[in-house]
Amino acid sequence: MKSVILPQYNRNVLRAILSLKVEQIEKKIPTRDEVVIKVHAAPINPSDIAFIQGGYNVVKTLPAVPGFEGSGTIVEVGSGLVHLMGKKVSFFAQSDSPGSWAEFITVNKNDLIVLKDDMDLDQAACLAINPFTAFGLFSIAIERECATAIVNAAGGQVPAFIRKLAAEHGVEVINVARNPETLKQLKHEGHKYVLDETDEKFSETLNNLAHQLEATVAFDAVGGPHSGVLFNAMPQDSELVVYGGLSNKPMTDLSVMDIIFKDKLISGFNLTPWMRELEEAEFEEISMLLQEKFISGEWKTQIQSTIPLEEVVSGLKSYLGNMSKGKVLLKP
Ligand SMILES: NC(=O)c1ccc[n+]([C@@H]2O[C@H](COP(=O)([O-])OP(=O)(O)OC[C@H]3O[C@@H](n4cnc5c(N)ncnc54)[C@H](OP(=O)(O)O)[C@@H]3O)[C@@H](O)[C@H]2O)c1
Repeated sequence: MKSVILPQYNRNVLRAILSLKVEQIEKKIPTRDEVVIKVHAAPINPSDIAFIQGGYNVVKTLPAVPGFEGSGTIVEVGSGLVHLMGKKVSFFAQSDSPGSWAEFITVNKNDLIVLKDDMDLDQAACLAINPFTAFGLFSIAIERECATAIVNAAGGQVPAFIRKLAAEHGVEVINVARNPETLKQLKHEGHKYVLDETDEKFSETLNNLAHQLEATVAFDAVGGPHSGVLFNAMPQDSELVVYGGLSNKPMTDLSVMDIIFKDKLISGFNLTPWMRELEEAEFEEISMLLQEKFISGEWKTQIQSTIPLEEVVSGLKSYLGNMSKGKVLLKP
């Protein structure tokens, strides 16, 4: 099968991208609990960028096929899974075996989402990670009964889904972004609170708004000194939930006094253990609910381009040049 191959991890993102090649490799034969999927599409996500740099929590044996999610049709099944033959699925693939940037992928039954008939396969390629992440993150806001949530990297897909859930639950959102186009777009979409993190008065404005609107949860995808600004701006009894490290910098500038005297928390969110803790029925219920949102058109992953595997290098460069424009989909 044709696959994108990463020969070596490289901290330098450009070198890592330029090292990618497309080669023929053997398809992995499914065990009893696995299926082979003919890949329809697989997106490029921030976790893929971190992975090819060797900076993600999943490290595969090299040479490796990247890609942690996608959609497609089951074309071969292990002996225990005959009933799944021909099904259209989304999948999540974080094990040490070839990933989704390939013509076929072999996946364990636990990493499959069997799709509803009307689910669009391009949208399904981006179903397993970001929509579930937004759902999991937002459950923290619900649990905390917060009036307002803060999101940074607000032009990204996870923050976009968080905004949808917030609107459904009557929760206000303070959106933080850095890119003028993204800021303009968010205002154009009618979002009330849109802050430019590059503005010199940013931390003061955020502080005032966070107190005025009782923003007691912030979802941080950036890290670095920016985490400190978010954390310090929030009122008593707040929680900073860190789920991404887009700045590639350690978290700094957090007020020690706020941690000690204002009962503020910093926590991390990771999709995989959150999903594993769900009961099968609960997972199924969330999966159906999310698929309905995509089928009705209420939710949509922004897709900026669709490219063949052979164009993976230029696709990664375009994605990194403008992540807010949407996902780049690889279609074998
Ligand atoms: N913990 C988990 O389980 C989990 C699951 C899913 C996703 N994630 C993480 O969630 C984050 C967002 O993912 P996504 O798919 O929503 O991203 P995305 O749609 O690809 O968009 C990325 C967004 O981040 C912004 N950005 C990139 N680097 C930035 C920086 N240094 N400072 C400020 N903004 C920056 C981009 O804005 P520009 O246009 O300004 O570049 C863009 O709006 C990623 O870190 C991803 O790894 C975590």
